[in-house]
Amino acid sequence: MGGFTITLVDVNSPVKLNNGVEIPCVGYGTFRTEPVATAAAVKAALQAGYRHIDTASLYKNEAGVGQAIKESGLAREDLFVTSKLWTSDWGYENVKQAFQASLDRLGLDYLDLYLIHWPANEKQFGADAAKINVETWRAFEELYQEGKVRAIGLSNFMPHHVKKLLETATIKPMVDQIEIHPGWTHEAEIKELQVMDIVVEAWGPLGGQGATVLTNPVMQEIATAHGKTTAQVSLRWILQQGVVPLPKSVHANRIKQNMEIFDFELTDEEMAKIFALKDLGGQCKDPDEVIFNY
Ligand SMILES: NC(=O)c1ccc[n+]([C@@H]2O[C@H](COP(=O)([O-])OP(=O)(O)OC[C@H]3O[C@@H](n4cnc5c(N)ncnc54)[C@H](OP(=O)(O)O)[C@@H]3O)[C@@H](O)[C@H]2O)c1
Repeated sequence: MGGFTITLVDVNSPVKLNNGVEIPCVGYGTFRTEPVATAAAVKAALQAGYRHIDTASLYKNEAGVGQAIKESGLAREDLFVTSKLWTSDWGYENVKQAFQASLDRLGLDYLDLYLIHWPANEKQFGADAAKINVETWRAFEELYQEGKVRAIGLSNFMPHHVKKLLETATIKPMVDQIEIHPGWTHEAEIKELQVMDIVVEAWGPLGGQGATVLTNPVMQEIATAHGKTTAQVSLRWILQQGVVPLPKSVHANRIKQNMEIFDFELTDEEMAKIFALKDLGGQCKDPDEVIFNY
């Protein structure tokens, strides 16, 4: 199973991927962190204790992540660094160069996890979509086999995209990173991916910018009952599903607050109340509908 039960004690409690590699159960997100502000933000996260950092070539801040890592003085093997291949680099030919460019910007000689940021879809590419995903994945498999990355995976792939990929893949993806927060739960998809022995990561675990997850009255009521914040309740709700949340904040107090989610437990009733919430904003893009031209 790609999920996990809560025997977790802190953000670095390990979750085993299907290839045996261990990933810290909470990651620090960097989407929309300005390139100039990234080194300071990631340094604050590392100082607070996060060891799992999530970036992407799209975010244009890999250099700042790399600078923070270098200046932290932490041993490389104590960190778990993820980056992602943007859609402009889909296809076998581009992957290796894009991967190396990410490594160079990060100043690293390997990644812990590399993800295909979005699947190519039929709306944009017709029958070629599956072929593009297969070819991209073939290059990912080679990077993995060459030892340049400790785990490979997907992002925004729904179970039907994953199943299609598995028809030709020789290596099963270890991770799928999808948007998950109250109001956008993906409950069935999470279970399906976990049955496939793929660890699910939650992006936008607080709803992202402009969502109402953190001000929702039901969330507030549950937070008050536990003496916690709504952000902590959202992250705990994700963890209790056996999913790895990736909260982002550039503020030291929130960076720390988002780690303090191991000293309380949501009841089944509270979990259900959160599952029932609807329309709290977020990006909520349908991977079969979205078209990227950049
Ligand atoms: N694979 C993908 O397609 C994809 C897409 C989007 C994101 N991601 C990854 O997932 C990570 C998380 O997603 P996200 O950044 O979109 O959204 P998020 O982590 O759900 O929310 C971040 C927003 O919440 C605020 N925030 C953080 N902690 C808070 C707290 N304790 N109380 C109140 N507000 C708080 C942040 O503001 P401040 O920074 O001002 O504190 C920011 O505006 C990203 O950073 C990225 O690494 C992946």
